[in-house]
Parts: sequence; C-alpha cells; structure tokens
Amino acid sequence: MSEVASVLFGREDIRRRVEELGRAITGDYAGREPVLVSVLKGGTVFLADLMREIHLALEVHFIAISRYGDAEESMGRVQILLDLDVDLAGRDVLVVEDIVDTGLTLSYLLSVLSARRTASLEVCTLLDRSVRRIAPLTPRYTGFDCPDLFVVGYGLDVDERYRNLPAIYAVEDVRMLQEDPGLLAPMLVGPDGG
Ligand code: PRP
Repeated sequence: MSEVASVLFGREDIRRRVEELGRAITGDYAGREPVLVSVLKGGTVFLADLMREIHLALEVHFIAISRYGDAEESMGRVQILLDLDVDLAGRDVLVVEDIVDTGLTLSYLLSVLSARRTASLEVCTLLDRSVRRIAPLTPRYTGFDCPDLFVVGYGLDVDERYRNLPAIYAVEDVRMLQEDPGLLAPMLVGPDGG
C-alpha cells in the first residue's frame, strides 16, 4: 500500500475472474476455433492469462493502433500501425482488450475487422470504464466494471511503466506519479522481497 495508489483489483480477484471468463468463452465457442486478436500493448498481459483458460484450439494475433493524443480530443482519428497477418474471412474473431474507455479505439477497430467478412466478431475486455464512453459499444465479455479512476498494472501503464504490476491499482494522484515515476517501484518487489 502507498499514498499514491491503492489496489483496485487484486492478483487473486483477477485470476478468478479470468478463469470465469475463460470458462464462459470455452462454452460459447465450443466446436469452433476462435481467433483472438490482441491490441498492443496493454491487452497482452490479460491475453496471456486468458488464452490459457480457454480450453479450445485457437489462434492468437496482434494488432497495433495509434491514437493521436487523447481519444476525446482525437475523436476517433486512429490508424493501424501493425496489421494482422491472417485472413479473417469466415473466422470467429474475439478482440481482447485491457480496457474500454470512450470506445473510440474499439469502434474503429471493429469497423475495420467487420469489413473483412468475419463469421462473428466479439469483444472481451478485462475492464470496462463505461462512464467515459462516447461511442456506443457493449463488450460481449467484461472482467470488471471500472470506476472513473486512473488505473495502472496488469498491462496498463503510466508513461509506459508498470505494465508488469501483478494487480491493478487506482492512482490517487496522477500528477504526483508523473512528476516522480519511481513512486510505484516498491510495488514491483516480489512476495519474497526479491
Ligand atoms: C488503451 C486500451 C485501448 C484504448 C481504450 O490503449 O488498451 O486500446 O486505450 O481507449 P478508448 O476506449 O478511449 O479508445 P492505449 O492507447 O493506452 O495504448 P497501450 O495499450 O499501448 O497502453
């Protein structure tokens, strides 16, 4: 625990919820071979855990998308930086995200992917901060509803740092953390102190 940030979703809560999501997806996609599409970079930690809880043959592919500054300001002006190297025609595609806020990134991505004539196209997000939504969009699978707080850890970053925190923390004072990015470093220490 620190003054700068407090645990919002703990390691064990995340593990349990990811297991539940994996079970639901395994049931829903039984008899099919889904293509998981992960959006770099934040979604990769969630993807790595989720895919091991889906007990089906599946494929994993990555896509990178740029945003011009803040999504609210950019009004959805996003572009693909790294495209998929797979033909999605006739495939069951499940986009895996760490967080959906305004929904602008995802609505752009979904419009691009649906034009590739997928058999189905759904979204699984670990966090849904729906209070910030601009583009109407409801993910098929959601890990947790996220309050309107700045969150970091388990893939989510602060200026590219702290994606490797095993839990998700709510940052109380973002400015303080931006001024002194080392403030969360004590939380990176393992349980044995190593
Ligand atoms: C995050 C997240 C989504 C997007 C959601 O990515 O992974 O892709 O923001 O925001 P939106 O709903 O307002 O469009 P970010 O741009 O922070 O990049 P990162 O994953 O590389 O950290």
